Order: sequence, then structure tokens, then C-alpha cells
Amino acid sequence: MAAGSARGWIGPLAITLACCVATTVASPALAQQDLDAQVRAALRNAGFTGTIQAQFLPALGRPLNAKLANLGRLLWFDKLGGLHDDNTCGGCHSPSRAFGDTQSIAIGIQNNNVVGPHRQGPRNQRRTPFASNTPFYPNLMWNGRFASISGDPFDNSLGFRFPYPEGTTRFPPNDPIVTHLSIAQAHMPPTELTEVAGFTCTAGTIGPEFDQFDDGRGACLPPADATGTRNDPIREVVVQRLNGNAAYRQLFGGIYPSVAAGGPIDISMFARAIAEFEFTLIFADAPVDRFARGDTRAMSEQEKRGALVFFGKGGCVQCHAVAGQSNEMFSDFKMHVIGVPQIAPRFGVGEGNVVFDGPGQDEDFGLEQITGNPADRYKFRSSPLRNVALQPAFFHNGSMTRLEDAIRLHLDPYTVARSYEPKRAGVDKDLQLRLGPIEPVLARLDPLLQEPTHLTGGEFQALVAFVRDALLDPRATKQNLCPLIPDSVPSGYSTMIFEECR
Ligand code: HEC
Ligand code: HEC
Repeated sequence: MAAGSARGWIGPLAITLACCVATTVASPALAQQDLDAQVRAALRNAGFTGTIQAQFLPALGRPLNAKLANLGRLLWFDKLGGLHDDNTCGGCHSPSRAFGDTQSIAIGIQNNNVVGPHRQGPRNQRRTPFASNTPFYPNLMWNGRFASISGDPFDNSLGFRFPYPEGTTRFPPNDPIVTHLSIAQAHMPPTELTEVAGFTCTAGTIGPEFDQFDDGRGACLPPADATGTRNDPIREVVVQRLNGNAAYRQLFGGIYPSVAAGGPIDISMFARAIAEFEFTLIFADAPVDRFARGDTRAMSEQEKRGALVFFGKGGCVQCHAVAGQSNEMFSDFKMHVIGVPQIAPRFGVGEGNVVFDGPGQDEDFGLEQITGNPADRYKFRSSPLRNVALQPAFFHNGSMTRLEDAIRLHLDPYTVARSYEPKRAGVDKDLQLRLGPIEPVLARLDPLLQEPTHLTGGEFQALVAFVRDALLDPRATKQNLCPLIPDSVPSGYSTMIFEECR
């Protein structure tokens, strides 16, 4: 609907431009002004203001707590939070990549302590999205499974919805502590077996196929609770580890009087620290924002032409939305099937540690995993596109490693997906071995993408320039973020080796 009206608006303008360019061939300045006017109109029409960065603190309703954020930063890089001391947020959410993945598909536990192209270890199922800017997202994860029911991450008046076992009761409406979706979310990663926790704690309880990953150290106590959920027991172990560490007790005590008085560090304190650090990672002031605020020189002419394609003929804004609850993040935060090729690592020791979906165990059912509804199969959240140029790979499984290829898929999914070859797409060797079926994916393709979009070579290059450069906040680059890696962490463990930060 939005793009339909955008077209209606830009159409007459384009005719105006054609008329004026024809009569004022000698005046590039005038043509430039017309281009600026068209881009301004397209942005306004899409609901884009370029002011979202400045709206963050007002939405949060309080200043940031620098001490708490710094504690979150230390936790981010400290392997103490992983039950086998082998992974932490930073292993996958790397500062060299705006706190996103260095890999096509994340490598979690049992890794080689390296973060970067040479990271090795068993693959999980999906690519790690940026943690930066996530405090603006009304729902989180590739299938949106963690959501603020109000549609606003800053508003918990209706509570936060998570899948079983958290459901809607773990983070109820108006909880005085879990006030933001990011705080609720930060309760989750430590419980992920493949990412952080490891399999040991549940050996024998989730199926024999996982026992081979049991490293025999048996650190995960107590066992799964009566309801069959192991999340709270794992959280208990994480806080036991923090409470057993004098340096952390002192740091938490400096923030929470109850800890200073001898009380326990609890999991919500961990989550609040992590979320506070994420609140410092808002990088949403890019050239397109500065342009929208009136600085016509913030974007190059090519980026401006690309913007017209993005908001007009390309139809991108229909899903990569910038109005209302999208918080100008270039996503409608809804789920769509766009025809992403299904790459799948082999399952087994040293290869993958997640059993993929489908009869060949080489598929990812996306939203269906959460809703159980086959109509939701292969649906994934429209990716928020800010700072996307900093990603080494694209889509939920990193099946494309060049931004151009990722954009081209949208223009003609049938042709591009059917001719996909993992090796040519540039994915790592262990991801070139298996390809899930593509026809069932294409059979469910979003109606918006069923007709190919024809762009000229110039339009395509301009579109790429817009997505790559005009959405990039320079503060999100590794030059700015690698210095956030602490020299040392409270546990005394070494931090991982961040190859791209050296
Ligand atoms: C093994 C790698 C790995 C580790 C370690 C990890 N994550 Fe993630 N993270 C992921 C992946 C993969 C996803 C997307 C998963 C999905 O959608 O199914 C994700 C999603 C997220 C998201 C939501 C992003 C979005 O766009 O919706 C946030 C926020 C996040 N992680 C924070 C954290 C924090 C905080 C930690 C540490 C406590 C952490 N992660 C540890 C891999 C990891
Ligand atoms: C029908 C909705 C829809 C339209 C229209 C659309 N996209 Fe997307 N886009 C998505 C979804 C959904 C994803 C994530 C798919 C996945 O990872 O499985 C995505 C992912 C992307 C990515 C990869 C980002 C990442 O996280 O790796 C880029 C780049 C992108 N889109 C650009 C564009 C451009 C440019 C256009 C216009 C030509 C466009 N999109 C049109 C839905 C859409």
C-alpha cells in the first residue's frame, strides 16, 4: 500500500522532472535540486524523518547508566557466562561487524576461541544478526519469536511474548524490572545449548543424537525441572557462577544495593546489564538520516537515485518499511518468503550441531517452527537494513556473501534461487556440501516478489549504493567498535581472539 501511493506520488513528479530537464539542459544545479526534491518527497511519503537516533533516550524515558552498561560490556566478552567457559555473546555478535556475525551460519559452543573468518566449530542453524540497534525492534530473531505485544519494544504495558517455556507469563505486563524487550531477550542466550550453554547439562534428556556432544565435564546442574524446561536451571547455574566470583560481586554490588548488602546477583541483573550495553549500541544516524534532516550533501547523486528506486520502482520499502512501529529500521518486522536458498551444514561431530527441518533435515522452516502452521513455512522477518554493508554474509543463513547478490535475489527470485551454487556464492567450504530443496520455498513466494522487477544497470548500481552507503552509520564500523573489547574480564579468562580487530 505504501509503495503504491509512493508510485502515485513520484509518477507526476518524474514527469515534471522530465519536462524541466528537457528545457534546462544547461543547468545541472537545477536538475540536482529536482532530484533532491524527489528524494525528500519519497522519504516524507514513506514516513521517514531521519530523527530516530535522537528519539532513543526520550523513548527509554531515562538517561543511560554508564556503570551498568560497562558491566554489560564485560559480560558480553566474558566466557564465564557459558557453562563450559567456551562462548559468550561476543563470540557471535562481534564488534568488528557491528555486533553481528563473522560467519554465514553461527558457530557457538566448542569453537576454536577465534572470532572472524577463521572461527571453527560446529555450526548452529542461522546467521547472527546485529545486536546493535535491536533496542528499536518490536520483535526479535529471524522468525520474530520474541515480541513486545504492544508492538513497541519500549512499552511493556501488554507484556512480552516468547515461545514456550517463557510464554507470556515469564515477562508479564508492567513488570517493574523487565521494562524493555531487550531486557527480556537478554534472559535467553545463556540458555541456548548450541550457542552458549553446551549439551552436557542435558545429556540423555533431549535425545541420544546430542549425547555425542557431551564433553563429559558435567558442569550443568541441576537437571531439567518438573515442567521439562531446562532454561531456569541453566540460568541458576549462570548466576551461581557470577555469585562465585568476587570481582562480579563487587561490580554488581556497585549498582545494586541488595548485592552490596550480601544478597545474590540474580538473572534479571545480568539481563539488565546486557540490555544497558545494547542501549549504547544505537547507530542510526546515517547519510539518509542527515539528508532527511535537511543536509542535501549527505548523500551522493548515485545514492539519491538509488533512494528513488528503493522507495519507488524497486518496491523495497513495502517490506523494508520506515514508518510507524518500524522505528525507521527499514523493516516491517513481518515475516515473508523471499526464496532464500537453503544451505545446510552436515550434522555430526565437528560439523553441525542442530538438526535442520524437513525430511532431508536440510531445511529451515522459519516462522512455522514457532506457530506450527505449515502456511508459515520458510517465512523470515524482513531484515532491518541499517549498516547492512558491514555484514560478511546475507540472509538468515548467510547463503549470499555479496550485497549485490542479496539484492538481485529479490528482483527475480525464481531465476536467481534456481541457479544458486553455494561455491559461487562464496560461502565457506563446510556450507557448500548440502543444499535443501528450493521448489517448496519458491512455491510459497511472497506475492510481492512473484513478478520480476526490471531495473537498468544504472538503477541497480544506484540501488546498491543507497543500501550499502546511505544506510551506514560510520560509528558502527570496526574502527569505532573494536576498542570496546576489554583488555581483561572479571573472570580472569582470556577474551577470544578477534581477528578482524587486530
Ligand atoms: C552462537 C552464537 C551466538 C551467541 C553466543 C549469542 N548469540 Fe545472539 N543471536 C545468535 C543468532 C544465530 C541469532 C538469531 C537466532 C534466530 O533468529 O533463530 C541471535 C539473535 C540475537 C538477538 C536478536 C537480534 C535480532 O535482530 O532480532 C539479540 C538481541 C541477541 N542475539 C543478543 C545476544 C546476547 C546478549 C548474547 C549473550 C548473552 C548472545 N546474543 C549470544 C547467535 C548468538
Ligand atoms: C516481500 C518483502 C520484501 C521486499 C519487497 C524486499 N525485501 Fe529485502 N528482505 C525481505 C526478507 C523477508 C529478508 C530476509 C530473508 C531471509 O533472510 O530469509 C530480506 C533481506 C534483505 C537483505 C539482506 C539483509 C540481511 O539481513 O542479510 C537485503 C540487502 C535486502 N533484503 C534488500 C532489499 C532491497 C534492496 C529490496 C528492493 C529491491 C528488497 N529487499 C525488497 C523481504 C523483502
